[in-house]
Amino acid sequence: MTGAVTALTELNFDDSLVSEAVPALFEAGRVPGDAAGVRAAWLDRFAREIYGVMPSAPDSITIERFPIAGETAERIAITLKVAERQFRVDAALWLPAGHDGKPFPIALGLDFLGPTGMFFGDGYPIDPDARISRSSGGRLSESHRGITGYRWPIKQINDADYAVLTSCYGSWVPDSETEWQGVGVWPLTRPDPAQPQPGAIALWAWSISRLIDVAERLPEIDASRVIAAGHSRLGKAVLLAAAHDARIGVVLVNNSGCLGASLSSRNLGETPAEMLARFPHWTCPNPAPAGAVPLDQHHLLASVAPRRLYVASASEDHWCDPKGEYLALAGAAPMWQQTLPPLQEAWHEDAECQSGAIGWHLRPGPHDIRPYDWARFLRFVA
Ligand code: GCU
Repeated sequence: MTGAVTALTELNFDDSLVSEAVPALFEAGRVPGDAAGVRAAWLDRFAREIYGVMPSAPDSITIERFPIAGETAERIAITLKVAERQFRVDAALWLPAGHDGKPFPIALGLDFLGPTGMFFGDGYPIDPDARISRSSGGRLSESHRGITGYRWPIKQINDADYAVLTSCYGSWVPDSETEWQGVGVWPLTRPDPAQPQPGAIALWAWSISRLIDVAERLPEIDASRVIAAGHSRLGKAVLLAAAHDARIGVVLVNNSGCLGASLSSRNLGETPAEMLARFPHWTCPNPAPAGAVPLDQHHLLASVAPRRLYVASASEDHWCDPKGEYLALAGAAPMWQQTLPPLQEAWHEDAECQSGAIGWHLRPGPHDIRPYDWARFLRFVA
């Protein structure tokens, strides 16, 4: 939810000043035989140098299901326990019509407002502990009801035969520099102080894995067919979740930008330094790619292989460096033995390309996730 942003550092938005080269994935240029080992080494570096180390899964997860007055969806009350500590959080579930005993695949993820933004009625409780982006007012309120339903177009997704499960990201990890460790995942998991401390992006990624745990407890769901989606800061989180959690079969990384799908080395639009000056709680303390071998976001994209990866960019989303997102995907493609067309060829309004298990499109317009993006993503997963 990018609003007007005041740059804290000198930022570049001039395309002509940056490289349009596809970055190399490996120094030697060739994909090594041990893909799993390579992926583990990258993820270890991302954990140590940028996002922090995710906590282990909780000791237990239980769910209770409640109807939501006036809606076809259900509220799922989730209880997570670690040792004697517990954390309760809500999500909403929409099942496609015509359930004939065959379990549905599921589309899941965190959302900026969560179900509150998807229901106009007041049947879904507003979480008073949730802390959401400053540009949306910082806290969930009645004024948020039903205003962002287009971001998870339920009918469109259900019509494609996918169930939907979403929850508000700020309920799991408050998106506030001063409050993020006060309630939710941090006090539940108490991350190990001897390890690089996870920032909020890593803890949101952890939370997405918990939504999969929930899906595994729903008899109507085929949890071997999980697609996950996230937009913007939650695109960063869903990418990290997909890189770590092999239960995500297909991931939609939407307008994720800096420390998401776009290349930090291009220095176009938002930079990690700029991001961390405004959101210091998003990564481990003092993040910095430290190794002699350059690490960039195409390595994170490549860590999703061999599972399916879809990156969505928007033409006016200069803050996210959409070309940097494309080039990162092109740089990751060798991990799937694929190649994407050169940038100049790919770059036009409504561009779309798919190469085996990876896909991309360029939506005309600004930073957002819209039914347009879902239509293409659902075609990709069909
Ligand atoms: C800010 C931030 C981005 C982020 C975006 C969002 O603009 O700088 O990195 O992706 O918020 O999550 O909407």
